[in-house]
Amino acid sequence: MSWHDGAVTTVLNDSPFVRACRGLDVPHTPVWFMRQAGRSLPEYRKIREGIGMLDSCRRPDLVTEITLQPVRRHNVDAAILFSDIVVPIAAAGIDLDIVPGTGPVVAEPVRTPAGIERLRQITPDDVGFVAESVRLLVKELGGTPLIGFAGAPFTLASYLIEGGPSRTYLKTKAMMYGEPALWNALLSRLADITLTFLRTQIDAGVSAVQLFDSWAGALSEADYREHVLPHSSRVLAGLAGAGVPRIHFGVGTAVLLEAMGEAGADVVGVDWRTPLDRATKVIGPSKAVQGNLDPAVLFAGREVVEREARRVLEQGRAAPGHVFNLGHGVMPETDPDALTRLVAFVHETSAR
Ligand code: CP3
Repeated sequence: MSWHDGAVTTVLNDSPFVRACRGLDVPHTPVWFMRQAGRSLPEYRKIREGIGMLDSCRRPDLVTEITLQPVRRHNVDAAILFSDIVVPIAAAGIDLDIVPGTGPVVAEPVRTPAGIERLRQITPDDVGFVAESVRLLVKELGGTPLIGFAGAPFTLASYLIEGGPSRTYLKTKAMMYGEPALWNALLSRLADITLTFLRTQIDAGVSAVQLFDSWAGALSEADYREHVLPHSSRVLAGLAGAGVPRIHFGVGTAVLLEAMGEAGADVVGVDWRTPLDRATKVIGPSKAVQGNLDPAVLFAGREVVEREARRVLEQGRAAPGHVFNLGHGVMPETDPDALTRLVAFVHETSAR
């Protein structure tokens, strides 16, 4: 149960964003952007000056302000909690840092049974600062829904095993193919941590959750089904009774969309490579879709943005619900005004 009162919950459940996730009719197509809170905004760069990424994630005052910045500026239909997928991993006892321009870097990669032992299961108290941030935000946001999130077991495992970002996922795949027992123990532990992290956010009041399996596109469908899907399914199934829509997203997932749809989310996030109507054919007519303007289109001028956004809106009509988004995160060099204009364009063009 979330802490806030029934009236606010009713308003949030009636918001275009939550309704679209559930495949209900909406006054306009709701829109938000992955990575809307972050480096494309000058006010973000200013407030982060001299404060490390992980430190800023642990300060509810900063998390609240940074989460609100894109909501004030762009008039998006949902806020996303400012945090990072490695926050619960750090809370679980893994020594890591988020290096600017690189991403998460793990001091001692996890590749052995002893390594998995270092990754403790977390309790809600270990991420109390996240619950506190969510409570503050829900108060500030009023009728605008807040999206909580976590990294999916595969994407988290890739950082832990590689020790940082990777192009080939060689060490990750070596463990997946060569040491299945160790692999399943690691992904199982990560699924437990992820469940606790997401339940903590839901208990504190988020209106939806997104499970990011950003790097699952590195896998074939068969390998995804055998080695990854069971763990992601356990996370999503564990939230089935929580009363909030579950979104599941990855990049380069054209061949995985059917399987990712089966993982149990209510909404499947699609990158820009797969048209939304084709995605719906594969996923089936019972799930909403989220996406999928190529983030690079925002660098091509207003007419191109509007033409492509219109195409995305048209292709999104094939699904029972459509949440407009980019096909991946906002690029740091994006002109924030182009995002503000895009939100207004989506609202106007889709108004029923
Ligand atoms: O606005 C939002 O979307 C909310 C905040 C958010 C961040 N990370 C903040 C962040 C979210 C949802 C994430 C998720 C995340 N983190 C993912 C999944 C989403 C995706 O992009 O596929 C992944 C793979 C990570 C891991 C990670 N953390 C990367 C790849 C990076 C970028 C490294 C870089 O500097 O290029 C980070 C750091 C990070 N997370 C930043 C932000 C705003 C940039 C750090 C900074 O501003 O100093």
